[in-house]
Amino acid sequence: DWTMASYREDAIARIRAQVGDRKVICALSGGVDSSVAAILIHEAIGEQLTCVFVDHGLLRLNEAEEVVTMFREAYNLPLIHANESDLFLGALEGVSDPEVKRKTIGRLFIEVFDKHAKDIGGADFLAQGTLYPDVIESVSFSGGPSVTIKSHHNVGGLPEKMGMKLVEPLRELFKDEVRALGRELGLPEKFIRRHPFPGPGLAIRCPGEITREKLDILRRADAVYIDQIRKHGLYDEIWQAFAAILPMRTVGVMGDGRTYDFAVGLRAVTSVDGMTADYYPFTHEFLGETATRIINEVKGVNRVFYDVTSKPPGTIELE
Ligand code: XMP
Repeated sequence: DWTMASYREDAIARIRAQVGDRKVICALSGGVDSSVAAILIHEAIGEQLTCVFVDHGLLRLNEAEEVVTMFREAYNLPLIHANESDLFLGALEGVSDPEVKRKTIGRLFIEVFDKHAKDIGGADFLAQGTLYPDVIESVSFSGGPSVTIKSHHNVGGLPEKMGMKLVEPLRELFKDEVRALGRELGLPEKFIRRHPFPGPGLAIRCPGEITREKLDILRRADAVYIDQIRKHGLYDEIWQAFAAILPMRTVGVMGDGRTYDFAVGLRAVTSVDGMTADYYPFTHEFLGETATRIINEVKGVNRVFYDVTSKPPGTIELE
């Protein structure tokens, strides 16, 4: 792609000019955005970059192992695997307010990075895969009131006291442009086509209080749902699909017995840039089959809902 080839060259030159011979620490989440940012920065400044993968205990099934293996083995990026699930889940105990969840996770992210930056002898810059839609959903318009829909944990939350500046090479790009840049940088197609995953992870797909039990159920339900979508060849038609665990138990019957288990909500939307979205029109056959599979394969779930809300008025995530 001609445009992305020149964007790549320009971005590399800008990163070198900004960073000089100083050190950068990068928040690698395993998503397309931070991965493209990390690979681009690695190309620009090599070993001056250290990546930190924060496992906040809010990742999907097997995600941590897959990401760490891929970046260490296939890309040879200097990568620290920070397993901080106890820290994050401990701080989130008893928290159900969505903004408090986001702010708690954002604050701990910063603390964890700060700690690892100190461990490697200090870094001058923090790299992030912030995109244009993230930037504009968090701005306050001059002369008007501050308009914040949701606080993104990866935007604007960096206290000056950390003494680190930001490197954000994707700040002007929309999602489809980041994917084109990823192809330009040689990332595998399957990886590039992965649906976006939010920084606060499963926390915002678990309305109400977060518990390890609910997260475990959510992970397994989500894995079955995504498996269904892939098996039916629908993955690439959908912008984002995921399961959520709803904050209620309902009564059901299974065999001869009564059940009193969690309800799972399924979400799938089409979108161009995440700013607006339409719910995906699955067939009734697909929905029925998926509900049956989830209830049969995931212990602790006895009811499945499909979310038919578009954005606006809904948002893509539940919180
Ligand atoms: P909403 O729920 O606001 O989501 O309609 C729009 C897109 O943004 C993703 N999202 C986030 N990404 N940090 C991120 O990196 C966040 O805090 C965050 N919140 C939402 C969401 O998955 C969707 O793609």
